[in-house]
Amino acid sequence: MSTPEKRVQELRKKINDANYNYYVLDNPTISDAEYDRSMRELQELEEEHPELKTPDSPTQRVGAEPVDEFGTVEHTIPLLSLNNAMNEGELKDFVDRVMRNLESGKVEFVAEPKIDGLAVELIYENGVFATGSTRGNGFTGENITQNLRTIESIPLRLRGDKLDVPELLEVRGEVYMTRSDFEKMNEEQEAKGEKVFSNPRNAAAGSLRQLDPSITAERPLNIYLYSLGASSGINIESQMELIEKLPQWGLRVNPNIDICEDYEAMCKYWQNMEANRDNFAYEIDGVVFKVNSFQQQDELGSTTRSPRWAIAGKFKAQQEITKIEEIEASVGRTGAVTPVAHLKQVIINGVKVTNATLHNQDEIDRKDIREGDWVVVQRAGDVIPQVVKVVKDRRDGSEKTYHIPDNCPVCGGKVVREQDDARHYCTNISCPAQLKGRIRHFASKNAMDIEGLGEKLVDQLVEENMVEKIEDIYSLRKTDLINLERMGEKSSQNLLDAIENSKEIRLARFVYALGIRNVGRHAARVLVDAFKTIDNIMNASEDEIGDIYEIGPIMAENVAAFFSEERNLKTIHSLLDQGLKLQTPSKAETEKLQDKTFVFTGALENYTRSEAKQLIEDLGGRATSSVSGNTDYVIVGENPGSKADKARDLGVEILSEDDFEDMINS
Ligand code: IVH
Repeated sequence: MSTPEKRVQELRKKINDANYNYYVLDNPTISDAEYDRSMRELQELEEEHPELKTPDSPTQRVGAEPVDEFGTVEHTIPLLSLNNAMNEGELKDFVDRVMRNLESGKVEFVAEPKIDGLAVELIYENGVFATGSTRGNGFTGENITQNLRTIESIPLRLRGDKLDVPELLEVRGEVYMTRSDFEKMNEEQEAKGEKVFSNPRNAAAGSLRQLDPSITAERPLNIYLYSLGASSGINIESQMELIEKLPQWGLRVNPNIDICEDYEAMCKYWQNMEANRDNFAYEIDGVVFKVNSFQQQDELGSTTRSPRWAIAGKFKAQQEITKIEEIEASVGRTGAVTPVAHLKQVIINGVKVTNATLHNQDEIDRKDIREGDWVVVQRAGDVIPQVVKVVKDRRDGSEKTYHIPDNCPVCGGKVVREQDDARHYCTNISCPAQLKGRIRHFASKNAMDIEGLGEKLVDQLVEENMVEKIEDIYSLRKTDLINLERMGEKSSQNLLDAIENSKEIRLARFVYALGIRNVGRHAARVLVDAFKTIDNIMNASEDEIGDIYEIGPIMAENVAAFFSEERNLKTIHSLLDQGLKLQTPSKAETEKLQDKTFVFTGALENYTRSEAKQLIEDLGGRATSSVSGNTDYVIVGENPGSKADKARDLGVEILSEDDFEDMINS
């Protein structure tokens, strides 16, 4: 008979093997559903038998609590950077220099793609993932262990039997995001009204530097390992041996690594990679050549900045010169008004380019870009082409300066500039260019919370012209809904019920749902606290809004601009006419938890962290992340962390989820 202990071992092995087959061998062996089932079974067993829980269990990837800041890690061996070869001549110089400086004449090089991500170091102690850090300044990095633990392609324990696992293994590699994951994630971020990233590298870096590991866990990060730091208990003599050994420990390496016997082979590898760079799922910004033998690497040594045994071969900038025929303001799904240059067509690395983004007005001013200018245009990966600079010598006086218009080119709505952001935005909530994004935000969980009104359905409603303005949501009829794709009698009714239920809504949620630029949940609450009713908010002047503590001048301008847009007022009045009831919490209610500070530890059953936080803030309290003498209550959920112990030590009152619910409902 299988004991729980045995079953736990079995499940862990199954899950670890599945990750290994999927990530390292690129050869999935079980279905997602089976993987999820095994994970759930393991979680349940560990719940029932907490004594079987171990830190390296695959259930323990996300468990750590958010931190206020990262600690630092001193690298035992510095993480150096690389010298660049800009062309084949410079590569030849490198090869000659290496040959000259080595005793024996025979030398091999290992050629690798240069992954455009973020360098990290992983430290395994007796096979267990102990510490992970960023490169930092090369000598000291940030301790991002808890975030790295959430990346499924990083094993929490090395594979192999005890004898084969080193006492100490420091490995370096690159955390990256694929282009398709990057685009998908940006779409999701945009739909949630959250920060979008400019390229996969920034997205990977931003995701890894989250203070809350549960956010990192949701980001599609991946890793390739490519070099060795300090180690003991292993005997590896060359880079290629390392690249062959790492996968046996379950560490992922890039499949496109080759040996090059001579300079000609290196050039060939470089050319081949450059020609194929767009065919990789991830961005590579060059190739790296390393002397294969570790003994020869030592012989060559390093400068303080970079090793003498390695070099990066950069890819040619993908640039051409062409003429800007016209500049046009284009309105995106978020209402961002972006100036786009229409170009006389050029071919850059085989791709036809007719448009380039000019980003924003500041960029246009800084580069002094005018209509009619000849410009250098650059294409990087599949990111939208950009204007690098103006060729001023080719001006003939006919060029025209450009300013983003004051009114939206799509709907005529007022255009304003966003806080901390160089971009301009259209303020009309019903602007057709941004309707989908607006509705998705309006219906989202922390806004009107209309369950069922998700992305696909919103797309259909807008494309079928069933919703042309936000308020049209409230006049949808079942007969129309039933005819949509994937909508039946039942789901249509559920949606109509959810829409009906959303009519009774807290004012702060409604203000947030309007999607006013810069007005997140907190700012919405601040506005409601200050003005109490929607009429007061609508009638407030920019100065009155700006006078509120916590509301800055740009936010005040955005709020005032939003409510001075006729079309928005019409939408609000129309929503009220259709029966929307905006509830302002009574004073007693907003002050229920006045000045009380809460900290959470462990998972709650009925709320996500952000819901619980919102609830506390709605009632006048504060939710913070670490326990101190100033904490009033610690709410303890499933699998509490060390914060519960700390609370006990400090004598802070501990509440269960039930206690907490009693408190807010009293
Ligand atoms: S080796 C001492 N190999 O490039 C050698 N680096 O400019 C250290 N990188 O910070 C690096 N792919 O972030 C190496 N296959 C690869 C690489 C790679 C990307 C990055 C790494 C490093 C930077 C150096």
